[in-house]
This record gives sequence, structure tokens and C-alpha cells, in this order.
Amino acid sequence: MNTRMRRAAVVVAAGAMAVSLAACGSAKEAGGGEKKPSGSAAAGDAIKVGLLLPENQTARYEKFDKPLIEKKIADLTGGKAQVVYANAKQDATTQNSQVDTMITNKVNVLIVDAVDAKAIAGSVKKAKDAGIPVVAYDRLAEGPIDGYTSFDNEEVGKVQGKALLEALGDKAKDGQIVMMNGSVTDPNAALFKKGAHSVLDGKVNIGKEYDTKEWKPENANTNMAGALSALGKDKVIGVYSANDGMAGGIITALKAAGLNPLPPVTGQDAELAGVQRIVAGEQFMSVYKPYAPEAAAAAEMAVALAQGKKADDIINNKVDSPTTKGVPSVLIPVVSLTKSNIKDTVVKDGVYTVDEICTDKYAAACAAIGLK
Ligand code: BGC
Repeated sequence: MNTRMRRAAVVVAAGAMAVSLAACGSAKEAGGGEKKPSGSAAAGDAIKVGLLLPENQTARYEKFDKPLIEKKIADLTGGKAQVVYANAKQDATTQNSQVDTMITNKVNVLIVDAVDAKAIAGSVKKAKDAGIPVVAYDRLAEGPIDGYTSFDNEEVGKVQGKALLEALGDKAKDGQIVMMNGSVTDPNAALFKKGAHSVLDGKVNIGKEYDTKEWKPENANTNMAGALSALGKDKVIGVYSANDGMAGGIITALKAAGLNPLPPVTGQDAELAGVQRIVAGEQFMSVYKPYAPEAAAAAEMAVALAQGKKADDIINNKVDSPTTKGVPSVLIPVVSLTKSNIKDTVVKDGVYTVDEICTDKYAAACAAIGLK
């Protein structure tokens, strides 16, 4: 497929999924409106799905991904499926033993968001050998996976880079920027970084760049403090942060150094704290990745595979991992989130209400940008 066709397919599929998700989320449709995959025998719905998420310091996993996947699996199986959940809290060894436990527990399918895409490969193979299909969630796990759902992650990096350039305007070369990338064990981090570099290189001066151990906000905070003293705090005109969690640690370091006004800082995940910092003018942007269609696609693939079907009907792409070629995939487009489109994105999609964002602390800032 050429790139344009692929994009068109992505948009269509994401749109279709958003529609089916909106339907399943509305009270009217609750318990009824969802279409079950045709031919699923009653016994075929009583499946056991293992769900493995990588960490719990980034808000998305337990606030959005887990409940959205569980809800969609329940909808697809008439509430008969069981989801067994484990969170690796950023430890790849823990995650490998969680896979072993799931194999012992005889799950029918695994959904895995890998802490370390390489380190999980042996466990993916073990599951496969035990007859358990594996869906890679968000991060492209290595090993013989059967399906993959994520966003266009290189595009995420481009969106972040473009927003930073826009914020810097004609001052883009009047100082240094600092780049705070994600963890080297996460293949998404490499794609975010690649996308960002493709936009920023040659247009800005990159004074310091870090790969942040375990995506930890406190590590980003320490690195930012180091960059400010190495480069001189007045020379830093912008910060590329790969996600909102790290942006929080970075902004704390910028404030601690007494920078005022703060230079533009990017992010990703549309975390509530990130959206509130955008409202308050402390963070320039985030990337809104609609988790509902991503979760729905993973659930659909997992249920189909557990029932012995192929996931091919719902895919819109094929991707290659370093170990496995042509993995059936669903990739969902992303949106740049700034203070101008909060209402049209996270509020419209029901991720947060205006009241959740505009608490007392942010009331004045919300009023100033017309968010009500
Ligand atoms: C995810 C991001 C997340 C980061 C840290 C990435 O793989 O795509 O949404 O912020 O991991 O957990």
C-alpha cells in the first residue's frame, strides 16, 4: 500500500471505530448496541484474556487503557470473558514472570504493552508455543506476535516538533533547545525521537539531549536541572519533552531555576495535569491520542484470536518488527492539543469534563481562554 492509501485507510478505520465506540459508550445503547463478532459460539465467549501493562506512573494505563480494554472485551463477549490484569511497574523481569503466570493460568490470549520490547521476545515465543496468541499493545513487542494496535508514533514526534517550532517562531535559533526523549527500551520512544528530529534538525540548536531512564518524571527533572546549569538558564528557549509526565518534572525544574516566563515545553498523552498546565500557559502542547479506539482495536483482535479467528477484518495496516514481518496492525491518527482546541478534542470525546479541567485553581485561566 502506498502512503496515501494507507493514511486514507487509517482515517476510515479510526472513524469507524470511533463511531462504534461512541455507540457503546452512550447510556441508551448500554448492554445492547454492540455488535458481536459473527459466529462466536456461546462457549467461545467465556474466554480468559491476559492484559499486561508496563507501568503505572503515567496516568493513561490504569485510568484509560485498562478500563477501556476491559469494557470493550465485556461488550464483545456479553460479559462472559474474564480479564486477568498485571502491571509490571517498569520492570522487564517482572513482566516476563507475569507472562509465565498467565501461561500457567491458561489464558486464551495475551494483550501486552511491553516494558522492554526486546526483553519480552522470549516470553512472546513461550506463549505462542503454549498456543496463546499475543497482541502487542501500543509498543511493538518483538517475537512472534499476532497483531498490534497503536498510533502513528513517528507522526507523534513530528507533531511535537512542529508545535515547538511554531511556538518559537522566528526566534527558533536565538538560543538552545533541550530534548528529553523517552526510554531506550521502548520502541515508541525511538519513533517519537525520529519524528521530532526530522522536523527540528537544522531549524533549532539542540543544546542537550537525553534518553530518559524508564520515562521517569524525576529523571527528566534531574536532567533538566543539569541542562540548565550546563547551558545557562537564559539560553534555553524551548524544551522538547516526549510526554506529559516528563513535562511535569521538566517544568518543575524550570520554575525552580526561576525562569519566568517559562519557555515552551511539549508533551504527549493529554494527561489531566498536562491539559491543566496548558490551560495555565505552563506547557505549550500535548499530543492527544484517542485511547478508546486503540483499546477497542486491541480488544477486538484479542477476542477474535482467542476464538480461533483471524484479526484481519479490523486491521488497516501491516508493520514489521525487528523479528517479525507483516504484523496485522491498527494504527490510529493523533491530534496536536493546545489551548485552542481543548474543547474540540478531550472534552468533545468525553475524556474530561470542563469541570474536571477547570477546578478552582484553573478557573481564571479557563475563563481567559473561553473554556466553559
Ligand atoms: C506511550 C506513551 C507513554 C510512554 C510512557 C509510550 O510507549 O506511547 O503514551 O507516555 O510510553 O509510558
